[in-house]
Amino acid sequence: MKNILITGALGQIGSELTIKLRKEYGNDHVIATDIRETDSDVVKGGPFEILDVTDGQKMYDLAKKYNADTIIHLAALLSATAEAKPLLAWNLNMGGLVNALETSRELGCQFFTPSSIGAFGPTTPKDQTPQDTIMRPTTMYGVNKVSGELLSDYYYQKFGVDTRGLRFPGLISYETPPGGGTTDYAVEIYYEAIKNKSYTSYIGEGTYMDMMYMPDALNAIVNLLEADPANLKHRNSFNVSAMSVAPETITKEIQKHIPEFTLSYDVDPVRQAIAESWPDGIDSAAAKAEWGFKAEYDLAKMTADMLEKLK
Ligand code: SER
Repeated sequence: MKNILITGALGQIGSELTIKLRKEYGNDHVIATDIRETDSDVVKGGPFEILDVTDGQKMYDLAKKYNADTIIHLAALLSATAEAKPLLAWNLNMGGLVNALETSRELGCQFFTPSSIGAFGPTTPKDQTPQDTIMRPTTMYGVNKVSGELLSDYYYQKFGVDTRGLRFPGLISYETPPGGGTTDYAVEIYYEAIKNKSYTSYIGEGTYMDMMYMPDALNAIVNLLEADPANLKHRNSFNVSAMSVAPETITKEIQKHIPEFTLSYDVDPVRQAIAESWPDGIDSAAAKAEWGFKAEYDLAKMTADMLEKLK
């Protein structure tokens, strides 16, 4: 990784990953791109270019201009937005991905893109979901993610592109909020705990999903990209999770810091149905065995840090 091009660099993952990679690899070696511009550190602190990922020629031109040897492709619509606009999701999520893979093939770049717990579906084993198992998602987002995993493996097998991916759970962070996801409640709940000491959850009681704190997610990306390829039996994509939580389990943890915090429910049927089609908890054994995945933050440690930072 000498010159890294990031798409979707102003999104939830990209805004923190760009800063982390610039610290590790040097400001000029991390080229941030996004469809919009802001006055954030990502735009001001190093090379930044406007890029609509459905424009394959521009993506190729930018990667060539900056001599990129690594592409981290993050631009995508999340699950709830994809369910509201399925055709847009297909065109953006799959169109952007194939452009990023083609650019990587043509320029010989290493390639990373996130998959998701959303790649699983209602017929997948719900607990300790194995690395290799049934994948029949019932959402457009899930269809995109499974297709993306297969396409990324295809580019590795057919063209030798060094593609690698992670099946991320809901990611929790305090810098940039996620948008249009099903797991977003697990971020909102912390903001509301600080602001209003109460939260109304659109996800119902007893609905468990995997989550991970952003510092662990960023380390996982870097560690996977730096992993010795000889040790990788899988590529696209690895199960990774740090905790399996429901709204009431996060609430109990928040109440250890803010005793008066209260939780109520106003369940959104669309996002609830998506959540119920996903696993309760996935097994990260393959990631641990093949490249040493490890999460530092459990629910208690993450909650303490989130509340501290948001204050
Ligand atoms: N956080 C994502 C979503 O909820 C899952 O990958 O859409």
